Amino acid sequence: MSLADVVASEARYRLAYLPTPLERMQRLTEFLGGPRLWVKRDDLTGLGLGGNKVRKLEFVMPDAIDHGADVLVTAGVAQSNSVRQIAAAAARAGMGCHVIQLTDRVDHEPVPVTRTGNAMIIPLLGASVHRMRWTGDRASAIEHTAAELAAAGRRPYVVPYGVSNPLGAIGYVAAAVELNAQFAAAGIRPRAVVHASGSGGTQAGLVVGFFEDRVHVVGVDVDAEPDRVRNDVSGIAVQMANDLELDARGVDAAIEVLDGYAGPHYAAVTDAALEAIDLGARLEGLILDPVYSAKALAAVIGMVRAGRFGPNDDVVFIHTGGAPSLLAQPDLLDRIETTHR
Ligand SMILES: Cc1ncc(COP(=O)(O)O)c(C=O)c1O
Repeated sequence: MSLADVVASEARYRLAYLPTPLERMQRLTEFLGGPRLWVKRDDLTGLGLGGNKVRKLEFVMPDAIDHGADVLVTAGVAQSNSVRQIAAAAARAGMGCHVIQLTDRVDHEPVPVTRTGNAMIIPLLGASVHRMRWTGDRASAIEHTAAELAAAGRRPYVVPYGVSNPLGAIGYVAAAVELNAQFAAAGIRPRAVVHASGSGGTQAGLVVGFFEDRVHVVGVDVDAEPDRVRNDVSGIAVQMANDLELDARGVDAAIEVLDGYAGPHYAAVTDAALEAIDLGARLEGLILDPVYSAKALAAVIGMVRAGRFGPNDDVVFIHTGGAPSLLAQPDLLDRIETTHR
């Protein structure tokens, strides 16, 4: 069975506008003096302002429906893109959504961080938000709220942090199938596909999806925890490959998690990310966020400058979304204008 057939045999709840475009980044390519750079517009998956979780939710929602769920339970920081997309999926499916908003993971959270951008949209989508201090233990906060809802007679379904489990990761196996068709249509064989990696599901799906065709995936650590990210990617990838009855041998060795672009901690604003936001916007009309997509593009720029690719290579940056969180940090405009222009 081909990988496309494997994906097609999985239950799917359609939420995303697919395929998302694959486009040349002509002006950024010229600015950097090659290689040929491309962007995969997964910020345009559509639902609830889009992003990478919409693809994952297409494979998680059938499981929630099978379990008879009437409410989704999940967690994230105030500016979580993941939570925004989960809340939108719940709205679309006619389910409730309870969110544990983890505070204090991001150093100091000024008012805009908790009331604008994603933090504004999540309650707008109908989600109930419970604030809780970040302890590092993402899973137990979710389980606790789910147990309370069940005790109150609801039928909760837990969506893991970042929608990153073997089911959700199938969304990015499907994305790899979609990309392979776009590569064939464009007549390219990319040297690397680069994207922001945090809870690991996106990279796990891509690594499994591209394994047979040997398209190399670079996951850029945005959590300042590259070993933990790599472990999570590997665990999800191997489990998912087994579930799909694919040969998982060698998958672990194919995982590259790139260190050095997160800054000192999750959501730290780095100069390289601000430069990427500036270049993406001015040269390509792309709106990037400082926590995820800008760090991934900064890594692309850094690898190009370090000479990792040849001038005739094709390199694909996956824009995984996140722009709503940029709107919660208007002060970044001053820093971009003073430092990068
Ligand atoms: C915009 C954006 N990019 C990338 C990621 C990372 O994807 P993953 O959690 O699947 O590693 C996230 C996760 O929250 C995200 O919101």
